[in-house]
Amino acid sequence: MSKTILITGGAGFIGRHVAQALLARGDRVRILDSLIEQVHPTRARPAELAADAELIVGDVRDEAAVLKALSGVDQVVHLAAEVGVGQSMYAVDRYTSVNDYGTAVLFQQLIDNPVERVVVASSMSIYGEGLYRTADGELRDDVIRGGRNPDGSWDPLDEQGRPMTPVHTPETKAGGLKSVYAIGKFVQERLTLTLTQQYGMGGSALRLWNAYGPGQALSNPYTGVLAIFASRIANGQAPMVFEDGQQRRDFVHVRDVARAFLLALDNPRADGEVFNIGSGVDRTVEEVALLQAKAMGRPDLTPEIAGKARAGDIRHCIPDLAKARDVLGYEAREDFAEGLAELAEWVARQEAEDRVVEARRELEMRGLVA
Ligand code: UD1
Repeated sequence: MSKTILITGGAGFIGRHVAQALLARGDRVRILDSLIEQVHPTRARPAELAADAELIVGDVRDEAAVLKALSGVDQVVHLAAEVGVGQSMYAVDRYTSVNDYGTAVLFQQLIDNPVERVVVASSMSIYGEGLYRTADGELRDDVIRGGRNPDGSWDPLDEQGRPMTPVHTPETKAGGLKSVYAIGKFVQERLTLTLTQQYGMGGSALRLWNAYGPGQALSNPYTGVLAIFASRIANGQAPMVFEDGQQRRDFVHVRDVARAFLLALDNPRADGEVFNIGSGVDRTVEEVALLQAKAMGRPDLTPEIAGKARAGDIRHCIPDLAKARDVLGYEAREDFAEGLAELAEWVARQEAEDRVVEARRELEMRGLVA
């Protein structure tokens, strides 16, 4: 039976793809989104938002807007959030207000207007450093990243000064909150699990790895790294890579992410649980910069290695996807090379203003790149 789903923050990159997937299978979609300027420079309804999606322009911290948006809704996907790890380290009040307090306002209204199920976007950033293995084969779940090592390398070291290797991180690893953004995501996750259970709703959290794909906010210098690289390359500039470029991430196509949300909305076994969502393949940031420049027809734009780290960034974290597979039946389907080609093709049709230098200056001015 078709349902009505409210997507908070649904005019954004991930939300538009979730909306499209829900509409395609016959559900109704309502979106509550404040169209912030950093993401939506013209503050107009995004052209890429499905025409059939109802849009309420409003802030998730505004209880009247939330109340209106919840009317007649069966399920909620909560995506409304500020998303930049680096930016969160100086825009502390804004990030805490939108991400933490915004979720509190949503749940305050849900108490009196309960829905069947709420699925919230959490993040791999809540783990801090992922799980590592020492040279002796010992698993370490308590790695705290220091700065750059005395020999100039960046990987965390064991007590004998030997680099440790990242291994797949399961949901059972304790959190290691290293940025204001991560703190907010953890709060969002816990509020969702605690309050849905308390008030007889279903609730789960998806810990997303690095989502990419067509529709990323190209002109937002605090967006995900692939969108940042894309707008640099489109403007004839080499990608700027922090640290030595060997930090590992799992880049997951936004359509796979959208499918994961639908699986969680449909499955009562997901309730009360958190799930890692990634592609299952991890890569270094330098490698993706090289691949992307090639995919965009500019292999000459070789990455510029900064040799400096951004405050709040983690070194390595790669997902263990067994739980998502076993409970949700989630399996990533999109191929990375095809995804990059699709992103390149989409970027070619956009006008991307390169504001990365400006953003980096902002972080440097505050001593947040070192
Ligand atoms: C991103 C998301 C976050 C999400 C998380 C999940 C954004 C803004 N942030 O954070 O919402 O929860 O993934 O994994 O989408 N880098 C460069 N050069 C740049 C920019 C970044 O080298 O110009 C590096 C960073 O230092 C980092 C890596 O690329 O090592 C990834 O950065 P970013 O895309 O910002 O992702 P996360 O911080 O992982």
